[in-house]
Amino acid sequence: MLDYLLASLRKASSAQRMRLLCGSDEPTVMLPSGSLRGPVVEWLLAHKSTQSRGGTVLRDVINHFHAPVECHQESLEAGDLYDQLAPATRRALNAPKAWIHQIFADAVREVEPTGARSFRSVRLWSVLAPVVARVLHRHLFSERCDNEVTGWIVESVRQTHLSIKGIVPVRASVRWRLIDYIERTLVRHDGCPAIFGADSKLPIELRAKHLVGVFFHTGLIQIVEFTIHALVAIAQHPRVESALLDPKRAPDYLSWVLDETLRLYPLFGVTNRVLTEDIQLDDGRVLARGTQLVVDFEQHQRVGWEAPESFLPERWQVGNPDLASFMPFGRGTRRCPAARFAQAAVSAMVMDLVSRFIIRAPLDHVRSIDDGGLCIMRPRGRGSTTLEDAAVAGLGVYGTVEQIGYQFAKLFVFPRTVGEVLARREAHFEPEQTRERHG
Ligand code: HEM
Repeated sequence: MLDYLLASLRKASSAQRMRLLCGSDEPTVMLPSGSLRGPVVEWLLAHKSTQSRGGTVLRDVINHFHAPVECHQESLEAGDLYDQLAPATRRALNAPKAWIHQIFADAVREVEPTGARSFRSVRLWSVLAPVVARVLHRHLFSERCDNEVTGWIVESVRQTHLSIKGIVPVRASVRWRLIDYIERTLVRHDGCPAIFGADSKLPIELRAKHLVGVFFHTGLIQIVEFTIHALVAIAQHPRVESALLDPKRAPDYLSWVLDETLRLYPLFGVTNRVLTEDIQLDDGRVLARGTQLVVDFEQHQRVGWEAPESFLPERWQVGNPDLASFMPFGRGTRRCPAARFAQAAVSAMVMDLVSRFIIRAPLDHVRSIDDGGLCIMRPRGRGSTTLEDAAVAGLGVYGTVEQIGYQFAKLFVFPRTVGEVLARREAHFEPEQTRERHG
């Protein structure tokens, strides 16, 4: 009964989301749809005439989620500012893969989520977000961040994350505290010339917003969510878990597991592009300049696969011959610059946690993993008990009820958020940038 209610509410809230994001009178083509599916979707996303984000409702809503960061690389159009910020991101991400793997492996190894207990119920989000916050801070500034700062980062990011999901409204004040802190850190480090370039004239506030937007909003959220999806998928597929722990496993098995995770649970729900020129399709049709393309990654990555709904890492043994229906990091000049960094980070954390803990995740595994990876963790080597079995069952019921509450919240909060953005578009005023400083 509860499961049925949850499934119906999920369907209603995601249909409402798509209607609000794409239902305006802007000419929009949803992908995949009709004959526009599979390889043609990826071809379109890589096309030179689809590299603009445009000023559509969908893009304005995404920008609103990042407020007060008004210069998020993801939404910036090509131009002078983009040409300064994109290389800064690349420089900050540019490190040997083995080194990235090592810093995340070292950081996650220190995590003891169960303490002295034989098992504990945890949200993987709460276990992982502080770890990733510390690693990213150290990576950017070559210095440790203390517990207070870690708390600010985690709170700001959680707030951003839940507002993107449509569960809570945007609260820029929490984010200003982090931006202020990053600004002070940048001042202490002479503006971080290693990232922004020695001759850069970019104001410190813009640098701080860039690092917060790209690394602490997007980067932290994506790395943590990717790790949670992988851990939950592994926990729910004991055969895959055993294969991962088998010392004789195929050397690429972990990367197959991660690819399969991203295929079934892509981190981007949708992205948009706006055509800067007409595009002629093979069947003679023309997509007109100004048309918005909205790509649904989850739908796209189910096209062309056998048993598309099944979690089957082994399918990657033969690879994806047509390079079709798999683009978790996007395509074209606007594809993700952090694919290598993210894969190294996530593989290190997943392997460490899977080899040290047994994870039991009783909730339905869906792409929008609003529960933050609610699960029971137990150190390997300890046996399960009846008490633990009861805790798993209890967590299943608790998590389902919590999810129902979240779906109701989405049905109320998201339309209000979009309403605010639409009112702002009509009034032609800029998002609130006033600083609400913290004592
Ligand atoms: C963990 C897995 C990640 C996935 C699956 C992912 C996915 C994506 C996708 C699909 C896009 C392209 C969207 C589009 O075409 O419109 C994108 C863009 C971007 N991602 Fe990632 N991302 C991940 C991690 C990260 C991390 C760790 C960072 C930063 C530290 C990052 C920074 C960015 C930026 C800055 C862009 C915009 C690129 C541009 O427009 O120039 N991503 N990401």
